[in-house]
Amino acid sequence: MRVSSISFLNWRNLEPTTASFEPGINVLWGMNAQGKSNILESIYYFARGRSFRGAKDREFIRFGEDFAHAEMKFRKKGYLSDTSLEVTIPKNGKKVMKRNGAPLSSTAEMIGNFRAVLFSPSNLALVSGGPLERRTFLDIALSQLSETYLMNLRRYSKALAERNALIKLASDGKSVSSAEWEMYARLMSTYGTWITSFRQEYSRYLEDAVRRYFDEMTGGKESPELRYTSHGLYEGIPSPLYTVKEDPDGTALYEKLTSNIEREIAAGTTLYGVHKDDINILFNGHEAKAYASQGQQRSIALSMKLAEAEISFSVGGEYPVILLDDVFSELDESRRSYILDKLGKEELRQIIITSCEPDVVPDDRQSRVNFTKVSAGGIE
Ligand SMILES: Nc1ncnc2c1ncn2[C@@H]1O[C@H](COP(=O)(O)OP(=O)(O)OP(=O)(O)O)[C@@H](O)[C@H]1O
Ligand SMILES: [Mg+2]
Repeated sequence: MRVSSISFLNWRNLEPTTASFEPGINVLWGMNAQGKSNILESIYYFARGRSFRGAKDREFIRFGEDFAHAEMKFRKKGYLSDTSLEVTIPKNGKKVMKRNGAPLSSTAEMIGNFRAVLFSPSNLALVSGGPLERRTFLDIALSQLSETYLMNLRRYSKALAERNALIKLASDGKSVSSAEWEMYARLMSTYGTWITSFRQEYSRYLEDAVRRYFDEMTGGKESPELRYTSHGLYEGIPSPLYTVKEDPDGTALYEKLTSNIEREIAAGTTLYGVHKDDINILFNGHEAKAYASQGQQRSIALSMKLAEAEISFSVGGEYPVILLDDVFSELDESRRSYILDKLGKEELRQIIITSCEPDVVPDDRQSRVNFTKVSAGGIE
């Protein structure tokens, strides 16, 4: 998969221009606050349907304008022409997304067309941050790979929000029938079990890959463990990564959700389910967050991102576009070479790097690099 070009109109600080990219390594370079990360953010938007920096859609609109528009053209493996994805975000009203000029009905319909993996300094939070960081990592990776996953995730989230609203009503003294509680327990356990089986399977791949990279990077003395931990009991469930198998059973979660309602009303929220799950990261048997050094934590986070790219390749059948926001500048040359080696066969992949200096690419790879200077939102 590769990005051919992306054009902007009223998009953050970017001039109404088109940035073009080549297969292989692309470097967007320039001084601070010129628009490099804004370009990467816009590309990743088409993979994820949201900003990677946690910005709201409306924040993309250039200060003082009424709407923002971006169109990205990308090429899938084996295709002779580009696919176009477009988004228009108005100040008031709903955003409009299109694929090859035809409107898409939802963000969900856009996700999965274009695949990218983003590395940024905030990835350290995968290890040092809370469970939400790791669930989001799994959700983003799996949503790009599986429509079934994304569909179940959305249904689960909707059921959870409705159940939480019901809990609020109940704690205000309104009566809620047992049929209603049962319905939500059934919905959440059905969708939740799907989500868990996907996440567990993914975590197994993740652990394998992370241990392998870690061995190579550190000489094999240390090996992290990554365990998906779940707030229901989900034994004996088929674990499809992207195929639909028989309907798995969610009895354990169903029972938790029907037998703890008083406690949940007292807490004011749903206490059980996959929105509480986590990947436990252990380092030499101890929790990495608490015991691993800064450098070790960074290596685990980096390994998780490399693994995301590798899994996307083996499941999706082609290399995702790799976006490296500022991460290269922190690493020494041997680490940079190692990462480039791990990100797939040179001629088949595309990597887009942002950096303040142009010379971030190790010397032996300089010959095939496409440099773009970003200056005050313009492209040279
Ligand atoms: N909606 C917007 N309208 C206009 N300008 C914006 C908008 N949102 C962000 N900016 C500006 O875009 C500029 C470029 O931001 P960006 O994060 O892309 O910089 P960068 O080139 O990645 O810099 P650094 O090297 O510091 O990471 C910033 O000055 C920011 O204030
Ligand atoms: Mg930046």
